[in-house]
Amino acid sequence: MNVAVVRETFPGERRVALVPTVLPMLTKAGWKVLVESGAGESAGFADADYEAAGATIIADRRSAFDQAEVVLQVRCLGANPDAGRDDLSLLRPGLVIIGMCDPLGNPQAVRELADQKATIFAMEMIPRITRAQSMDVLSSMATIAGYKAVLQAADHLPKLFPMLMTAAGTLVAAKVLVIGAGVAGLQAIASSRRLGAVVQAYDVRPVVKEQIESLGARFVELKLDTGDAEDKGGYAKQLTDEQVKMQQQQLADIVADCDVCITTAAIPGRPSPLLVTADAVRRMRRGSVVVDLAAERGGNCELTVADEIVVEGGVTLLGPTNLPSEVPQHASQMYAKNLVTFLLHMTKDEKLDIDLKDEIIRDTLAAKDGQVQNDRLRDMLGLEPLVLPETSPPIDHLANE
Ligand code: NAI
Repeated sequence: MNVAVVRETFPGERRVALVPTVLPMLTKAGWKVLVESGAGESAGFADADYEAAGATIIADRRSAFDQAEVVLQVRCLGANPDAGRDDLSLLRPGLVIIGMCDPLGNPQAVRELADQKATIFAMEMIPRITRAQSMDVLSSMATIAGYKAVLQAADHLPKLFPMLMTAAGTLVAAKVLVIGAGVAGLQAIASSRRLGAVVQAYDVRPVVKEQIESLGARFVELKLDTGDAEDKGGYAKQLTDEQVKMQQQQLADIVADCDVCITTAAIPGRPSPLLVTADAVRRMRRGSVVVDLAAERGGNCELTVADEIVVEGGVTLLGPTNLPSEVPQHASQMYAKNLVTFLLHMTKDEKLDIDLKDEIIRDTLAAKDGQVQNDRLRDMLGLEPLVLPETSPPIDHLANE
């Protein structure tokens, strides 16, 4: 069984889907690893590093696809809308692709991939359940983004983060506000605290209060009756227009008083909620910084422009959309561990076993046998649901009964 990792083609993408240190996990399970020459270069891994770990280097992309049963990628079509198209002609029926393809943002791309009759696993759809935590690429990448957002904010702020008492006087600690305390937000809180800032954070789900406080930040409570703000997957529900307005108004006072505002609020598959209005930004002090991690889906801040630096009334607004790529070595290490764990989850007795009764495999499967598979994607594309076998409980769950 051959698994190939290929060079990323999305402009500016520096990550790679496999790092040399995870190769032994694959070879032990019976996989032979092929690496397109130069695949790891921008993440800091030379061909020789892969070879030393047991991989075979393949000079040409087409032959990497041709020789492999499984191809691992960071971004395939959907998450790589232009250059990703060149790979369509390299797909063949039954070839398995594991990577990110932005299925909820770009379901049409999944249909195009399905048309090639390849089997596509969209890693963004790994269910957020305990059993699948080690395969959750969105959490891994959000962790990196939350950390890096703080560094970017610190870099643009004309102040230091920590309080310093020096012979030249006392410097007051920077005030950081984090909006959205999911994976990226919690990491942004922790990283801001480590740099010495005074941090407060807001989330529409009150259950995160304890997590925010455990990181040494203050939980911001708004006068907003959201009832049960969480769906059964643990994600935030969409608010009504009236609730959104109340949220924006109340947040404006808090935003006006912070030096740094990092926004990470997201609801999967929907545009980013607008939480920081242009008026709120205009009330911020000159020199303040907003980092909007939700820029790719329209942004949480009205003035954000994706991948640009905007200065409005002395306030700097950053809308980076690919922060994990700016930390390519660790981002690749985490991503590779997630992918390999997923691939090994589907490897039984040195064979690939795509068991659709398994919840993790079934939820992540985007396309197979020429069909878009996932019900949510089919619904977005106006397709009837497929009849699939019932999922069976995980083995460890049975053992506990
Ligand atoms: P997550 O789902 O773990 O967290 C999002 C949080 O936003 C949740 O806690 C949710 O309750 C909260 N939220 C939703 N609606 C809200 C509202 N109206 N008001 C306040 N809070 C609200 O998501 P994760 O993984 O932390 O990602 C956060 C964002 O960062 C996403 O938009 C994601 O696409 C983005 N991201 C950006 C990267 C970049 O390079 N810019 C890289 C990785 C992730």
